[in-house]
Amino acid sequence: VTGRTEPIKRVLLAKPRGYCAGVDRAVQTVEHALDHYGAPVYVRKQIVHNLHVVRSLEARGAVFVEETDEVPMGSIVVFSAHGVAPEVHAEAAARNLKAIDATCPLVTKVHNEARRFAAEDYDIVLIGHEGHEEVVGTTGEAPDHIKLVDGPADAAKVQVRDPDKVVWLSQTTLSVDETMQTVEALRQRYPNLQSPPSDDICYATQNRQAAVKAIAAQVDLFLVVGSANSSNSVRMVEVARTAGARAAYLVDNAAAIDEEWLTGVGTVGLSSGASVPEVLVSEVASWLAERGYGDLQEVNHTEERLTFALPQELRRDLRLSA
Ligand code: F3S
Repeated sequence: VTGRTEPIKRVLLAKPRGYCAGVDRAVQTVEHALDHYGAPVYVRKQIVHNLHVVRSLEARGAVFVEETDEVPMGSIVVFSAHGVAPEVHAEAAARNLKAIDATCPLVTKVHNEARRFAAEDYDIVLIGHEGHEEVVGTTGEAPDHIKLVDGPADAAKVQVRDPDKVVWLSQTTLSVDETMQTVEALRQRYPNLQSPPSDDICYATQNRQAAVKAIAAQVDLFLVVGSANSSNSVRMVEVARTAGARAAYLVDNAAAIDEEWLTGVGTVGLSSGASVPEVLVSEVASWLAERGYGDLQEVNHTEERLTFALPQELRRDLRLSA
């Protein structure tokens, strides 16, 4: 017997986690479209950034494409939760597609802001990640007025026409803290910088990050379930590290966990991104329980009750057939 004691093993499960209202609506849109119109239903881009969701819908007859010109003339196409530029709607109309727009209403809100400020001839600094679908879609609303700034370091480089007529908008799934740093850096240069009329970083992103932050300092290992192309999931891993978790990893599922990570670990933090079905979290919890981490405690940071109605073009068809 050596004096060494095993750490007490437990799991702190963050809440809220997983599906947000926009993802739930987007996934349901494809499911209802499959039931109502029958397969194939084409989906432009991944409906939400989660591999498991995409594969499950594929198995039911959804066909994922990158661009509208891959969809056969006259077919049904669903646009993903991340939103599309106006030209994509035009392309779909030109191919005589029946388009169902599953863009999250909170992304649409940012599109509307971009259009409004562009109409008033503002320069719009869009804080977001270069190449992310949502950023591409929002930029498409006002390409001549929008400048992308990807993080605090980028804020020093952006050029505007009139430093007194600048507004910042953002992608919905950014790190709250890092975005505030970027805004501060912009404000140093443009003291009259205007803010968006209401938060562009959505409630779900904010709540998931706050729930991670609330437990991160007690945690030796933080596991965030999510896919690598999911912006909000990746941000949660960063937040866990910054807020004091000794280590934090993004895993698509239980099979992606490296058993080595558990060495010397007492408390495991667990959460999931806004595009992640709960079944994947349950599998990770079971995997942990099999390795001695069966003591699981859910830590509730905020209750969420928001839900969104299905896209109206789909509701209309569902009603007509009811
Ligand atoms: Fe919408 Fe935010 Fe979810 S923008 S899709 S509610 S992560």
